[in-house]
Amino acid sequence: MYHKSKLPNLATTIFTTMGQLARQHNAVNISQGFPNFPTDPHLLSLVKKAMEAGLNQYAPMQGILPLRERISEKMETLYGHSYHPETEITITAGATQAIFTAITAFIRPKDEVIVFEPAFDCYAPAIDLMGATLVSMPMQGPNFTMDWSLFQSKITPKTKMVIINSPHNPTGTLLKQHDMEELQNALRGTNILLLSDEVYEHMTFDGAAHQSACRFPDLASQSLICASFGKTFHVTGWKMGYMAGPKALMHEFNKVHQYNVFCVNHPMQGALADYLQNPDPYMALSAFYQEKRDYFLKAISASKFKWTPSEGTYFQVVDYSDITTETDMDFATRLVREYGIATIPMSVFWEDGRQDQQLRFCFAKTKDTLDRAAEIINRIGQ
Ligand SMILES: Cc1ncc(COP(=O)(O)O)c(C=O)c1O
Repeated sequence: MYHKSKLPNLATTIFTTMGQLARQHNAVNISQGFPNFPTDPHLLSLVKKAMEAGLNQYAPMQGILPLRERISEKMETLYGHSYHPETEITITAGATQAIFTAITAFIRPKDEVIVFEPAFDCYAPAIDLMGATLVSMPMQGPNFTMDWSLFQSKITPKTKMVIINSPHNPTGTLLKQHDMEELQNALRGTNILLLSDEVYEHMTFDGAAHQSACRFPDLASQSLICASFGKTFHVTGWKMGYMAGPKALMHEFNKVHQYNVFCVNHPMQGALADYLQNPDPYMALSAFYQEKRDYFLKAISASKFKWTPSEGTYFQVVDYSDITTETDMDFATRLVREYGIATIPMSVFWEDGRQDQQLRFCFAKTKDTLDRAAEIINRIGQ
C-alpha cells in the first residue's frame, strides 16, 4: 500500500540521529538537551507517595487543581500576572504537546505563522500539518539579536500566530524587556496570537530576569504560554508541562487537548503539586546552570572554538570557523567518529539549512562529563 506522506521533507530528528551515532562510537554526548545528573530524591519520594495515595486513574482533563493552583501562584509571584487555576491553566504531556495542541487549535490552512529562527524543531512540522505557512523571522548576526522593523514587515493579513522562545534554544539568548515591548507594540490591536515557549524560564544568567510574555498586559491578553517541568526539575523523561492563557483561548485549547490526550500522568501531577510548594528548587536553577556554564567555558578556553557566553538555557553555541570549512553536519559527524564527542549542528534549526559554521553544546551535564568533553574539545583542530 502506498501512503502519500503528510510531511515528505521531514527526516528523523537530529537528536535521534546524533544519539544513535554517539552510542555507536561510545562518544561523550553533549548533543541532546537533557541533564545527566540525578533527580531530587525528595521529588521521587513524592511520586511514590502520590501512587500509594491512589492517584493512579485518569486525572481531571485540565490537570489536578492543586497543581494548577501552585502554577498560578508561581506565575503571579514571579511575573505579576494572575491566571485563574480553574479556567486558564492546563497540564500537558510536556511543552511539546502544549505547542502541538495550541497550533492545532488555532491554525487553519493557509494561515501564516511567524517563527524566529533558528528555532526548536517541533514548531515547523505542526504548522505544516495544519496546511499553514511558516514565515521565517531570522535572528540577526553572531549574537542573534532581534530586528523589529524586519519583524513588522513579516506581518500580513494572513498572520495568525507568532512563536517566540526565551530563554532561547538553540542560541542561549534572552528576549530583553525592550524586545518584549517592541513585540507588544507590533501585536497590539491585531488578532494575532502569541505562542510563547518559556520552557527555560528558570535558567537566566548574570542577573538577567526572564521576560515572560505575561509580564506585558496587552501581550498577555493574546498569549498562550507554555512551560516544562522536565526542564525545570531535571525530569525530561516525565514529559510534564503546562499551558497558561486567557480563558477564551484556553477554552479552545482544551477542546483539542481533551481529544488529543484527554489528561496527563496523574501521580506525577500529585508529586509536582507537593514539590512546588517549595520555590527553592526552581529559584536555585539559574545559579546552578550559570555555574555549569562558567565551569565549562573556562574548561574549553584553550580550544579553537569561539563563542559569546550563553545568557540562559543550558546550551552554548560555538563558532568553528577557525578550525575547518566543513559543513556543520559533516563536522559534527566527524567529531563523533574521530574524536568521540556528539554535538548538534546549528543548521538543523534553520528551515533553509543555513550554514554559519556553528555547533550547539549542551552543558546540563555532570562535572565528569563536562571535563571529558572539554578535554576532547581542546584537542580539536590543534
Ligand atoms: C525550546 C523548547 N521547547 C519545548 C521543548 C519540549 O519540552 P518538553 O520536553 O516538556 O516537551 C524543548 C525541549 O527540548 C525545547 O528546547
